[in-house]
Amino acid sequence: MVSEQAAQVLVASNRGPVSYTLRDDGALEARRGGGGLVSGLSAIGPDTDAVWVCAALGDGDHEAVRRTGGRLDPEDTGGQRVRMLGIAPDVYAGAYNGVANSTLWFVHHLLYQTPLEPSFGAEFRAQWGAYEAYNRAFAEALADEAADGASVLVQDYHLALVPGMLRALRPDLRIGHFSHTPWAPVDYFRLLPDDIARQLLRGILGADRAAFLTHRWADAFTACCTELLGGTGSTRIGVHGLGADADFLRERAHRPDVGERIVSLREEIGGTDRRTIVRVDRTELSKNIVRGLLAYRQLLTDHPEWRERVVHVAFAYPSRQDLSVYRDYTAEVQRVADAINLDFGTDGWLPVVLHVKDDFARSLAAYRLADVALVNPIRDGMNLVAKEIPVVSENGCVLVLSREAGAYEELGDDALVVNPYDISATATALHEALTMPHDERAERTKRLAAAATALPPSQWFLDQLEALRG
Ligand code: G6P
Repeated sequence: MVSEQAAQVLVASNRGPVSYTLRDDGALEARRGGGGLVSGLSAIGPDTDAVWVCAALGDGDHEAVRRTGGRLDPEDTGGQRVRMLGIAPDVYAGAYNGVANSTLWFVHHLLYQTPLEPSFGAEFRAQWGAYEAYNRAFAEALADEAADGASVLVQDYHLALVPGMLRALRPDLRIGHFSHTPWAPVDYFRLLPDDIARQLLRGILGADRAAFLTHRWADAFTACCTELLGGTGSTRIGVHGLGADADFLRERAHRPDVGERIVSLREEIGGTDRRTIVRVDRTELSKNIVRGLLAYRQLLTDHPEWRERVVHVAFAYPSRQDLSVYRDYTAEVQRVADAINLDFGTDGWLPVVLHVKDDFARSLAAYRLADVALVNPIRDGMNLVAKEIPVVSENGCVLVLSREAGAYEELGDDALVVNPYDISATATALHEALTMPHDERAERTKRLAAAATALPPSQWFLDQLEALRG
């Protein structure tokens, strides 16, 4: 049944624009998130009736769903209509932890290696059942909320089956799917059981349009469809690079809380003329934080002249900590950073300043102070940090960038480009970045900032909507 207030535009994603914490006194505290989708959706204007369908993530979210029936109070969402799904915890765990983040994430980012090889047995089949149920819950909610002929933009690898399921329920809708991750090359994608690989592809091909962040990922998807299904059928394939939101970043980076963080960060760095190599990531394997630390270690070994004169400011914010492989990686990052500090540190110099508690204001403070930005993922759909730092940095920041990040397609010309596995080459690039003459750094940063902001989130979102309707 289509709901009374049917929507003309719908977005579906695992993580929604708001999350709740249940306080001890029983009150719910709403916290609004940022990111490209939030600012993209706000671009379609305050009068829009757009509905965002997302999953309840923690206890607070589930309590909010219980109290509201899943249609969240607009006061908590900044006016955005949000339908939050209270998916059963075992279904959610199988879909999100099991299939999305232990399997699909690893396939698309080429993260399998001994001893982390996949095995697809009974446990995985049960998780797959959960992934189907989770996708079905989204498809049914979207079918229920969408007006006749509405446009639905389904996001990411969590929801690969939704387009096909929704198409069966509501043939009248225009459906788009967008992948924020890379797409795996055919041979790697074929690690998945054949029936499941086909279901994933057919699911996305249920959309009128399947879009990606770069041509490389779009081509990989097309190649998988050709190999496994004989083609992409009538689904159109699109590419929409997502850029940094310059206005938002510049304004946000100059608020007083960021100023305060600059003062404390300067204290941690110590010494007024020390250089900074900055990185900001969620702590997960594709970000390649450990090899980044090892490259920094090699820099200090090969070029002792940098000792006491440079600090690696590394913010590694824990992510997906329900899964041991992510927890172990977080511990490894901490261990390698501690070892560098122990081996090289002196009374007045801590070579690595590592922070693991998520703090956006502090990230922006680090962006402003950065002399070098290190973005070296093994693979990354885009990597927005590579785009944000040049916009905010005040010193003319040199970008050391992995050729495997989607951002490479747009920023490669003005960055120092590295193979993410090559620790020695990364150490050399860090040295080159630190010694680059001021004028060249400033020129490159200017060009990087221009390229990084060419497609702001609002444009990214509107382009997709228009292409879907066109
Ligand atoms: C990637 C995915 C997003 C996801 C984000 C954070 O960027 O493409 O869909 O939301 O990581 O991961 P999390 O599992 O914490 O939502």
